[in-house]
Amino acid sequence: MGLKSTVKKVVGPEQWNRIRSVRQSYGEFKERYVTLPREAYRQMKRYRKYYSRPSGTAAEQIQARLIFHTHQIEKGLSHTQFRYGFGKNTLKEEAQYLKAYMRAVPNYRNTMPYQSAIAALHEYYERHEPEHKEAVEYAQSLFPAEVWKEVVEGAYSNGGSLVITANSKQNNRSATFSQIVDSRHSIREYANQPVTLDELMPALQMAVRTPSVCNRQPVRVHVVTDPVQIKQALKVQGGFNGYPMPPMLLLITADCRDFLNSMERNEGFTDAGLFAMSLMYALEAEGLAACPLNTMFNRAMEETTRSILSIPDYENLALYISVGHFPESVKTCVSERHEVTDIITVH
Ligand SMILES: Cc1cc2nc3c(=O)[nH]c(=O)nc-3n(C[C@H](O)[C@H](O)[C@H](O)COP(=O)(O)O)c2cc1C
Repeated sequence: MGLKSTVKKVVGPEQWNRIRSVRQSYGEFKERYVTLPREAYRQMKRYRKYYSRPSGTAAEQIQARLIFHTHQIEKGLSHTQFRYGFGKNTLKEEAQYLKAYMRAVPNYRNTMPYQSAIAALHEYYERHEPEHKEAVEYAQSLFPAEVWKEVVEGAYSNGGSLVITANSKQNNRSATFSQIVDSRHSIREYANQPVTLDELMPALQMAVRTPSVCNRQPVRVHVVTDPVQIKQALKVQGGFNGYPMPPMLLLITADCRDFLNSMERNEGFTDAGLFAMSLMYALEAEGLAACPLNTMFNRAMEETTRSILSIPDYENLALYISVGHFPESVKTCVSERHEVTDIITVH
């Protein structure tokens, strides 16, 4: 007879059940108060060590900051209400990180981050020249002469803004998947027309087909159409400043109650990300314009958002998606991508 069976026999069934329940409580306690904090701490340490902090000198860290600032310039270029001379601080940072990038990456001219920075700056130059000379002179003063020469020449075209028309979306329902993937862009300005729940539903029906871990389906979608709530929520969000409000805002969340242990703690974000991407392709296929918007919030921002939109405490915020109808014509960022060969490691 094994030790377990012997103890069970000696203590009797009632006592045995008590022991089992104590063991289970101890296991749960350990999982919640020892394993979960330890694993979250381990994850935090990796992030703390490698994220692109301002003093980071690794090429990848500098590249992240360069791409971030190029993106800010592209957003400025794509506003319908174009603001001449926009982005003085952004240009300064762009110049700083471009120079650091050129020092860190020997073949920088052949790389996407450099080329798309130059392309975005070229459009900035073209849109300001010749009537807003002071903006051009300011930008020129920030960059080395050989860089500015490439900016003026327009040496690259893979950056800046591009125009999207409502007409080009008319046959999206019969488009192939690769056409949908190629033609989808984040659209931040919409037609002055509401989006109804009926219009949204077909896209959501497609998105619920998204896989999730062990089919747990933790994703929840909060559909917001009240203009006051949208305005309040996006004011806190901060990444949509300067654009007219969208007619519909979706908040994608993940319900923590669908997960079983400390190892699953990030899975809701993975599932929500997959769901959101399906939804964005589905919206594009339905001829609706959309833009994912981050929920990278500190405590105060998160608490305010939860209160504005009545989000239950057990749901983690993953991201927003603003939704609207395509206007006749709208500009958006080129947002050039890395070459596939630059992102794969074949093992
Ligand atoms: C999770 C996530 C958060 C984003 N947050 C914002 C945001 O706060 N503001 C914004 O204007 N764009 C935001 N974007 C849109 C990105 O800028 C855009 O997806 C990227 O530049 C690629 O361009 P594309 O979507 O047109 O292909 C976000 C995208 C993702 C995936």
